Amino acid sequence: MSALKFEDQKFPEKSGINDYVRLAEQFIPGRRAIFAITEAALLELLPKGQSRLLVVGAGGGEEIVRLGQNNEDWSFVGVDTFQPMVDLARQRLAETPVGKRSQVHAVAIDSLDDRDFDAATCILTAHFVPDDGAKLSFFESIRSRLKPGAPLVIVDGVGVVGEEQTELLRRIWKRHAILNGVAEEAAAANAETFKKVAVVSADREEQLLTAAGFSRLTPIFRGLTIKGWLAFA
Ligand SMILES: C[S@@+](CC[C@H](N)C(=O)[O-])C[C@H]1O[C@@H](n2cnc3c(N)ncnc32)[C@H](O)[C@@H]1O
Repeated sequence: MSALKFEDQKFPEKSGINDYVRLAEQFIPGRRAIFAITEAALLELLPKGQSRLLVVGAGGGEEIVRLGQNNEDWSFVGVDTFQPMVDLARQRLAETPVGKRSQVHAVAIDSLDDRDFDAATCILTAHFVPDDGAKLSFFESIRSRLKPGAPLVIVDGVGVVGEEQTELLRRIWKRHAILNGVAEEAAAANAETFKKVAVVSADREEQLLTAAGFSRLTPIFRGLTIKGWLAFA
């Protein structure tokens, strides 16, 4: 069975993709904390002055807005493979001052003709890339577009379907969504999505990042089945 793509997910009725920002806050444990920790990590690591950030899976635009709104020296190049999410990002960014410092391209990372980034983020995106060689080359494509030693913030679903710990976390995931106002059926459907995406264990993710040339992997976030690391090119 091929892995579920982002665009194959069923969005709750009466909302759909335009409601992505709200839905993400309801479903993703620590959604706001993920952005705050990412911003804090980049503030710690990037020198003062202008920095160019690569945002892989920039769809929706919220990530660029959150990272850019208080950091006027940061500019952003985003890539995303799903045109409606690129359109949403452009629309969202155009409403904010960050839009003037941002571009979002509807291309895969390996086709991006731009390099020497000071940092990259890849938030809730790599778990859509199958672990059949594609996830490794996805990570290699990110690393090769960074300056040597530059940081990547990667936040991704992790776990192994059927393993006791992952299954417990998935059940808690569903309850967490319900506590955040999601209807029980939609919460259950979202927890089931985990089974279908190309999620791998945290150990495997670290192995792939290391094989792609990243080093000094540093965990910075954990919220149920979502784990975040800093890694250096
Ligand atoms: C869950 S959303 C996260 C968007 C954003 N990073 C955020 O946190 O708001 C995942 C995004 O990754 C995009 N995506 C999925 N596979 C991708 C790939 N191989 N390359 C680039 N983007 C991809 C989807 O189109 C979608 O916009």
